[in-house]
Amino acid sequence: MHDILPEDSPYWEKVRQEVFEMAKFYDFGYVETPILEYQGVFEKSLGVASEVVEKEIYGVKTKGGDELVLRPEGTAPIMRAYFQHGWESLPQPVKVFYLGQMFRHESPQAGRYRQFHQFGFEVIGSEDPVSDAELILIAMNLLKDMGIKNLICEINSLGDKTCRIKYRQALKDYFRSHIKKMCSNCQRRFKENPLRILDCKEEKCKEIILKAPQILDFICDDCRSHFKKLIEFLDELEVPYLLNPYLVRGLDYYTKTVFEIYNEEKRSSQSALAGGGRYDGLGEILGGKNIPAVGFACGIERVIYEMKESKARVPQKPMPKIFLVQLGDLGKKKSLKLMEEFRKHNIFVSESLSKHSIKSQMKSADKEGVKLTLILGQKEALDNEIIIRDMTSGVQETIPIPKLINEIKKRLKAA
Ligand code: HAM
Repeated sequence: MHDILPEDSPYWEKVRQEVFEMAKFYDFGYVETPILEYQGVFEKSLGVASEVVEKEIYGVKTKGGDELVLRPEGTAPIMRAYFQHGWESLPQPVKVFYLGQMFRHESPQAGRYRQFHQFGFEVIGSEDPVSDAELILIAMNLLKDMGIKNLICEINSLGDKTCRIKYRQALKDYFRSHIKKMCSNCQRRFKENPLRILDCKEEKCKEIILKAPQILDFICDDCRSHFKKLIEFLDELEVPYLLNPYLVRGLDYYTKTVFEIYNEEKRSSQSALAGGGRYDGLGEILGGKNIPAVGFACGIERVIYEMKESKARVPQKPMPKIFLVQLGDLGKKKSLKLMEEFRKHNIFVSESLSKHSIKSQMKSADKEGVKLTLILGQKEALDNEIIIRDMTSGVQETIPIPKLINEIKKRLKAA
């Protein structure tokens, strides 16, 4: 877990800005679910054999005996909210987005944190592949607008519940003769969910996986046509994508489309910037109803790392043109009030209110390279006046405080 420090705030600001703007344009509503959820929300939906449920969930037992967990992801809570708030009765699909902390007890390594942040977009109540395409487009464009280059989207289809049964069997048949040579995780997955073997990053397993049967040879006509239409949309939109027949993703709720977005130059297991897909079965698991849905989430820490690598442009702190120097108790007292006056008029003023000596305050003003310095001493405060010093010419003028804002506006405009 890590602290987010002020030097990174321009990056966070940029990410939030882009996410909220994109959401507004495509008409997604903002949702915040609690960081703590009932354990069942994830256990039932992510799959007991998924890495996240198996070893990454932080559990919390309350004094009242409730089993709660720190949310490891945002999709299952959104689906829980869908049923809890009766969103079924709203016009479908319901389009929502979120941004916040997630928690996974992972082994620490580059780009993998135990507390991290995601933003995510979900479209609930649409089975049309146009929704899958819309989300991939949003994810790719968001990352591009944040200044990240060389993006590529890997996609695959996992079929639905029915076609997956046939594929699962084919995988079992194939891996049965190899499993003894594979890692202990794969041996366990072989029993619980052989599809998850395809996710293994161990070199000795990867070689065997490369010759495994491919899901696209097993999916039904309906799933095939859904995938084909998605690809046609992506072609039309000129989204760079790569078909990866072994992309299965780590969570069990996916059906049909799955995708991950990478910086093409760093395509390794740890570097997916975003991941998502269709989860038509999740409604059934959490609310007993079949609700088609699709979405994605993006890891903000990874995005910020990439933004820095790509030297992305981020909002800069505005350069102050004015510095306020105060002297004595009365000067300081009036200064704070004056600062508020400037804030109301949207004039950015710098200060060192905690400093006392005029010398050190003038030094700060010089360092900031301001155009005007305002000096509010004990005498000026008593007379309700203030000194304006032009830092270029060194000329000073005393004016009544009630006229200050207008005078400053005039001088800044003339500059
Ligand atoms: P996920 O692939 O587990 O999917 O996570 C999405 C993104 O979150 C990853 O691509 C990565 O950028 C970031 N991420 C995941 N784990 C960590 C970590 N430990 N440290 C830093 N970043 C991390 C989901 O969470 C699904 N809920 C996505 C989704 C939405 N599917 C449908 N709708």
